[in-house]
Amino acid sequence: MAAPKITVIGTGYLGATHAAAMAELGFQVLGLDVVPEKIEMLGAGRVPMYEPGLEEILRRHVAGLPGSSGRLSFTTSYAEAAEFGDVHFICVNTPQKHGEYAADMSYVDAAVESLAPHLARPALVVGKSTVPVGSAARLAARIAELAPAGQEVELAWNPEFLREGFAVEDTLHPDRIVVGVTSERAEKLLREVYAGPVAEGSPFLVTDLPTAELVKTAANAFLSTKISFINAMAEICEAAGGDVAKLAEAIGHDDRIGRKFLRAGIGFGGGCLPKDIRAFMARAGELGADQALTFLREVDSINMRRRAHMVELTREAVGGAVLGTRIAVLGASFKPDSDDVRDSPALNVAGQLHLQGAQVTVYDPKGMENARAVFPTLGYAPSALEAVRGADAVLHLTEWREFRELDPEVLGEAVAHRRMLDGRNTLDPALWREAGWSYRALGRPTA
Ligand code: UGA
Repeated sequence: MAAPKITVIGTGYLGATHAAAMAELGFQVLGLDVVPEKIEMLGAGRVPMYEPGLEEILRRHVAGLPGSSGRLSFTTSYAEAAEFGDVHFICVNTPQKHGEYAADMSYVDAAVESLAPHLARPALVVGKSTVPVGSAARLAARIAELAPAGQEVELAWNPEFLREGFAVEDTLHPDRIVVGVTSERAEKLLREVYAGPVAEGSPFLVTDLPTAELVKTAANAFLSTKISFINAMAEICEAAGGDVAKLAEAIGHDDRIGRKFLRAGIGFGGGCLPKDIRAFMARAGELGADQALTFLREVDSINMRRRAHMVELTREAVGGAVLGTRIAVLGASFKPDSDDVRDSPALNVAGQLHLQGAQVTVYDPKGMENARAVFPTLGYAPSALEAVRGADAVLHLTEWREFRELDPEVLGEAVAHRRMLDGRNTLDPALWREAGWSYRALGRPTA
């Protein structure tokens, strides 16, 4: 039997990576987006965001590019997608609703409403977006109403666990593949799609629809909890004079706890963890199970407190008020190896200091353009060295490798005062202190 043909609906972070990865695995792929500019860009082999390795695999497969396999094309037409695909992956985003905790399902709903009326032959629609549990069942019913092929069109759920900055690696070599299905036929088709990664060792777990939806939100809730746990310990360490970095290392040696995701600092941000825990709480409320997740409210509030605390430490460092001081901020993206500034703790802290009257200058290796778009009133410099010129304090807020390699002597010559506040606990305290800097990190002793 011929290999299934694949469409990927939504070509943002998740969709662009998934489409390129599916082509890399040998499938014929058609990517769809309703934004023509995105389609044009991807069709020319260019990626609209910074993601290591993604452009390379895209260029290897986009039809019409010199030397490409020609397996990957793009369109804005749902009719074309329905005609082309045996498996349709839905990869559109589900942001937080404005002014509410709940997830905004309008893009997922629109994708289903647009695709289903064209599904005139057997197909499997596979949701990948992060959704409130129960959405899959609702969407399956809607597809049954709309698709001309009726029972021949099924829905499955296959959550995505990729991390920004490692999107390609995580998609080609996932640490697990979870599929929520309602038939053997759907399972068989998805086994075919993922045969490559499974042969290389990725576990393949089959569940029902609600469990598959929940695996994703539960995983992100757990990761958020782990970060907020260590940040709560950072608060205790600061109060008691302990060192949270040493504490994290020591508890992490217990395999049951593990060392990953125990880096204390200014907390988590990005387009996923913060909005996912809020949407999860909102959904639990709708299900009458809100008590089960009240702890996530605490996880969220510990996390938001980190940003305020960083602002407070900066105020202390410069003598009580930031008004009129020059503050250099190293980092704007929500994490390194990404240009994504959505709900970025770094940019949030920079913004708060700016609102309190500091003259803030930001530098980030990749996130400058996006930062400028959301926060045009901040100052921006083309390098770390330029950003720190004349600074009364330097804040390290996104842990890019480039910042770990900075020479404290060279920066020391440029600043007005040698004050380093490490919001990510990744600089070497001894190195900075030896060069005459006052170095302060969150949850660690002051000297
Ligand atoms: C997260 C999850 O890690 C992915 O598994 C998931 O697929 C993705 O969300 C999603 O739902 O799509 P991502 O948002 O790319 O991935 O970022 P993470 O690497 O999880 O980092 C999130 C935030 O936590 C960053 O701001 C990071 O700086 C912060 N963090 C992480 C800490 O403050 N401490 C840590 O120890 C680890």
